[in-house]
Order: sequence, then C-alpha cells, then structure tokens
Amino acid sequence: MKRLGVNIDHVATLRNARGERHPDPIAAAKFVKKIGADSITIHLREDRRHINDLDAKKICSLKNLPVNLEISTNSKIVDIALKIKPNYICIVPENRKEVTTEGGLDLNKNKKKIKKIISKFKNKNIRTSLFINPSLKDVLISKELRTDCIEIHTGKLSTLIKSKKNFQNELKRIKKSAILANNINIEVHAGHGLDYRTTQILNNIREIKEFNIGHFLIGESLFDGFKKVIKKFKKIIR
Ligand code: PXP
Repeated sequence: MKRLGVNIDHVATLRNARGERHPDPIAAAKFVKKIGADSITIHLREDRRHINDLDAKKICSLKNLPVNLEISTNSKIVDIALKIKPNYICIVPENRKEVTTEGGLDLNKNKKKIKKIISKFKNKNIRTSLFINPSLKDVLISKELRTDCIEIHTGKLSTLIKSKKNFQNELKRIKKSAILANNINIEVHAGHGLDYRTTQILNNIREIKEFNIGHFLIGESLFDGFKKVIKKFKKIIR
C-alpha cells in the first residue's frame, strides 16, 4: 500500500498573506489526517516564509499524526528539529532566492555534513530521508550516508509532462533510481510538482512507497475541497 503525505506549507502561505491566524495550518493538519492523509509534511524554511517555529512545534506534538519535517542542513534549523522531534525528517537543499525547492541535494559536496545530521536524528529514532535527484550515483551515496529513505525529486518529470514534452528518459531515470534504492534497502518516496496525472504515471513504479504532494493538492482543494482531492489522490495511488 503506497502512502500519501500531504504538504500543508501553502495553508500557512495563505495565512501569512494577511498576517493573521486564518487559515490555521494546525487545523489543516488535523483535518487532512482525518480525511485520509497518511502523514503531514511541513518545511521549516530558513526564511520562515510559510510554516513558522510555533506551527512546527504544535503540529509535531499532535497525537496520532505522523509528521515529516523538511529541513535544510543549516545548523540552527537542525537544532530546532532535534528539539521538536518530528516522526520523520527529510533533508532538502535550500536556496534563499528560490520559489520552491528546485533540485535534489548535492550529496557529493556535502557528504560529511549530511552524514553527521543523519546520525543525530537516527540516534533519536527519527526516520531520515534525503531529497535527491534521480541519479544512481546519488542513490549509492545515500546508502553510504546511512539514510532510511530517499525522496526522488520529480520536478523535472512533472514539468516535462505538463509541457507535453518527451518525459520517457526522465521517467526511466526515476525508475532505475527507485529500483536500485529498493534493492539496497532504502525506502523510496517521490515528490515535487505532482498533480493527478504525474502521480498516476509514477504510481506504476512499484518501488515508490510514499508520495509527498503540496502545491497542486492545496490549489485544487480551493475548487473541490480537501475531501474530494485527497480521496482522488488516494484512489490513484491505491
Ligand atoms: N517533497 C519535498 C522534499 C519538497 O521540498 C516539496 C516542496 O516543498 C514537496 C515534496 C512538495 O512539492 P509540491 O508543493 O510541488 O507538491
């Protein structure tokens, strides 16, 4: 059974647009869990553009709600994450000027630093994941770094599909990376830029166990509501 992780960062984006309390990401976390999300993903960015420290703390303290906290390798953010103890962490690259996470981690360049961060979380029994590009080399480095999971960045695939370009090579790269990771006992997740169609295409890759979906899911819920949208995603990944 594949799992659906719902990224609720953009509920906070909407709240922050007014600087008030509504819509409340904590209420959103509880609600999406109630209607079928398997976990909640939040990204505590260095610039706090959506989720803030208090949101993260409150969401991570909710009972029966698995939370996947995305963090950069920034030492202050790592320390905060270690204190609030989410169920899972996913280490992502972060660049101040980017609109969203534009690619996977540069594992080769940051091996030592990432390995250290992973061991800190593993010591607290927190599941670790690395957001990587679909590359066999990066899968092998991920193993070396002793992560539990990887999340394959599906942004390039999504862009190719949405712009009706040939996506077969990128899909093959994702599939090969997922198979290799699975063979060496790394759990495989996928995320970024996913909508119904791209999720459906990726769902054929048996090795992908979890999808983390945010922007499209939140946007589509403005029209159809969380209930209908989450139900539709769950049906696709069943
Ligand atoms: N997975 C990771 C690791 C991410 O950084 C993001 C974006 O924050 C997502 C999934 C969700 O991407 P999207 O909002 O495009 O669905």
